[in-house]
Amino acid sequence: MAEQKATNVTWHEHKVSKAERLQLKGHKGAVVWFTGLSACGKSTIANALDHKLHLAGKHSVVLDGDNIRMGLNKNLGFSAEDRAENIRRIGEVSKLFAQSGTIAITAFISPYRADRDAVRALLGEGEFIEVYVNASVETCEARDPKGLYKKARAGEIKNFTGISDPYEAPEKAELVLDANTKGIEELTNEVLAYLESKGVLKA
Ligand code: ADX
Repeated sequence: MAEQKATNVTWHEHKVSKAERLQLKGHKGAVVWFTGLSACGKSTIANALDHKLHLAGKHSVVLDGDNIRMGLNKNLGFSAEDRAENIRRIGEVSKLFAQSGTIAITAFISPYRADRDAVRALLGEGEFIEVYVNASVETCEARDPKGLYKKARAGEIKNFTGISDPYEAPEKAELVLDANTKGIEELTNEVLAYLESKGVLKA
């Protein structure tokens, strides 16, 4: 839990209501929260989903682990505390996007259940859609697009998720994607079908 440091701050209600924003956008705001090991396919599926939503005229945005760690969260590393702060900030940012009526798609390992649940608690009923991209360490290590598993095995990267750091798989994810056997297109369509079935894509 982050400490509230600032005093003498007041919460301001905004004039444009959630319903009014939703009408303008033509669909609901939501957070599609991908979680899974490095190289499980999170970013690729997130981008494919973003593209399909865009083509369908929906407003979406992708927040991606490596990119955010070069900007907003450049001062954070990979200790449990820093990962918690990483996820807390992304959670708050994605909430702002959801409030604006945008579908925020996030692609972070987010290995700790408590950190993901804290983001869930920030959002309203049905607004947080946890998508577990389930690929085994073996699958991810065989892909190893950035050569990070190799480095982790050689002891060159400490606290590497799945090798020398924990990954707590979701117990109540809205959606579990089988990334061991299925391809990007099929998995992206599964997420799209879920969003459609829950009415996220209409006002
Ligand atoms: S998280 O655990 O805090 O959610 P995040 O998704 O932002 O992680 O960043 C993960 C990315 O950082 C990985 O895909 C990988 O490219 C890189 N990385 C560098 N060091 C580590 C590490 N020790 N553990 C996991 N990923 C790492």
